Amino acid sequence: MTVVALAVGGRGLVDPSEPVLHADDEAFLRGRAAFETIRVYDGRPFRLDDHLERLAGSAERLGLPPVDTAAFKGIAREALDAAGKSEAVLRLYLTPGREGGAYPTALAMVSTLPPALDVKRARGLRMITVQLGLEPGVRANAPWLLGGVKSTSYAVNMAAEAEARRRDADDAVFLANGRIVLEGPVTNIWWRTGNDLFTPGLELGILAGVTRATLVESAAALGYQVHEGTYVVDELAGAEEAFTSSSVREVMPVIELDRRPVGDGKPGPGAAELQAALRHAAIA
Ligand SMILES: Cc1ncc(COP(=O)(O)O)c(C=O)c1O
Repeated sequence: MTVVALAVGGRGLVDPSEPVLHADDEAFLRGRAAFETIRVYDGRPFRLDDHLERLAGSAERLGLPPVDTAAFKGIAREALDAAGKSEAVLRLYLTPGREGGAYPTALAMVSTLPPALDVKRARGLRMITVQLGLEPGVRANAPWLLGGVKSTSYAVNMAAEAEARRRDADDAVFLANGRIVLEGPVTNIWWRTGNDLFTPGLELGILAGVTRATLVESAAALGYQVHEGTYVVDELAGAEEAFTSSSVREVMPVIELDRRPVGDGKPGPGAAELQAALRHAAIA
């Protein structure tokens, strides 16, 4: 992704090649900042209010100052207008600011979409499972583990993606102890058997994906039975089809898990139907 426009709280538009954070910003020193990644369709950020609500929740859990929703909307608009792109990615950041200081920084950044998303959608993803080394329920009662928080401490997630590439796969899915399915490094995971759709429950400490919530609504309207809960990976591996969901990548079919085909090893009809429903919701 290439950054095409940047706006900073209290400053407005800034040249994207200009540095805007200090070397001792907590976001850099300790990865303690909240962020959101939002898909832009027709120049409009999809479900911006839901993303801002999640940002506010993340900020609170990270001990950051409250999110100024109106100010974020303002810098988001400035950056989107300056970018002038119909299809793009909008990223919002709230950092605590300099170590020991009290000047949080809000950023809105507009980037191009990552390349080849539709090529990958047509082909489907080959995924590997990777252990997160947590008891499945532990994050529900351990707020310091930051389950469900979208913070800039994503190095573990990026390392899991890198491990997938190292093993000649496209993406990873995290498992808790007992081979319980959680989520991908930047996606939620789903699978279908017959008319039943399954996705891990939020009580597992996974991220409450905005796309996941959209799909829960769309799937019900399309007549699927949606189940959210605690499932072992064999259920995913034995499904008729599987897919991931995220704001940027939308619905991505999964054709292989740990080198074995999922279903018939081809992108499935449920993924295609829900991708169409997501687009419909986005441009309605
Ligand atoms: C860990 C994790 N899970 C799930 C998602 C999907 O969330 P959303 O649909 O809001 O993009 C993301 C998105 O970045 C993520 O980082």
